[in-house]
Amino acid sequence: MRKGILMAGGSGTRLYPITQAISKQLLPLYDKPMIYYPLSVLMLSGLRDIALITTPQDQESFKRLIGDGSQWGLNVTWIIQPSPDGLAQAYLLTEDFLEGGPSGMVLGDNVFYGHGFPELLKEANAREVGGTIFGYKVRDPERYGVVGFGADGRATQILEKPIKPPSDFAVTGLYFLDGRAPEWARTLKKSGRGEYEVADLLQLYLEAGDLTVTTMGRGYGWLDTGTHESLLDAGAFVQTLEKRQGLKIGCPEEIAFFNGWITAGDLAELAKPYLKTEYGQYLMRLIE
Ligand code: TTP
Repeated sequence: MRKGILMAGGSGTRLYPITQAISKQLLPLYDKPMIYYPLSVLMLSGLRDIALITTPQDQESFKRLIGDGSQWGLNVTWIIQPSPDGLAQAYLLTEDFLEGGPSGMVLGDNVFYGHGFPELLKEANAREVGGTIFGYKVRDPERYGVVGFGADGRATQILEKPIKPPSDFAVTGLYFLDGRAPEWARTLKKSGRGEYEVADLLQLYLEAGDLTVTTMGRGYGWLDTGTHESLLDAGAFVQTLEKRQGLKIGCPEEIAFFNGWITAGDLAELAKPYLKTEYGQYLMRLIE
């Protein structure tokens, strides 16, 4: 069974002074903590065994919010990343947890939205051998990991923050990799900026001919939350859609309920302490 990894460490320096005393992934994105959005992605993929990676100082706060995950039908394993040494380190930290099996990893500050997204996730989950990543067209690819494509449209390279990007397709923070990821991650050396780069790990999958790059089109949103302005913009985006449709984006209680992981009675219990908020009233409406 594929297991989930949620990477919620990092230092959040671009959000100082807000993130001086609190983890970025605990900040509000409109009506819920940021981490709910990537956690929802793992849940929509059907993953229930989830390793949650945090900094040493923030783990307690995350635990107050999520606990062991059983309220949402999840089984959460808490893991500490002592220092932010890069995303590929996640696979070293979770080697025992994964027990040789495949994983789906999402970054704690990534927000996805789009019609048909659950289907894309399920397809990626079903692909047992190799890896799947998602490319998203952006105006400023040099800020991200970027996919290079050959003449036949197949991905040929993954470059981290290239000065001359080979395409406009950024690699989003969502990676479905098979059981070889920890073993290959162990062979990586730190990059010039002192991190174990996930781009280098993906390059190994690419060279083995085992990486599927699925591009997300115009109908999708992949939002940045890493700076003051983008955080506010992402919150406004969520507010606009939720207000218009009366449906929530990134609500773990809702996904757990519709996945059949919790009952209507469980949902009502979860809603009880929240009834003064629209969030709690929304959970109650789901039961009706
Ligand atoms: P980044 O945005 O690269 O870094 P950051 O969150 O520390 O922020 P800043 O650039 O402002 O200092 O991180 C992307 C996501 O990955 C974010 O959710 C934090 C997480 N992360 C880790 O958990 N461990 C790491 O070693 C790194 C580099 C990131």
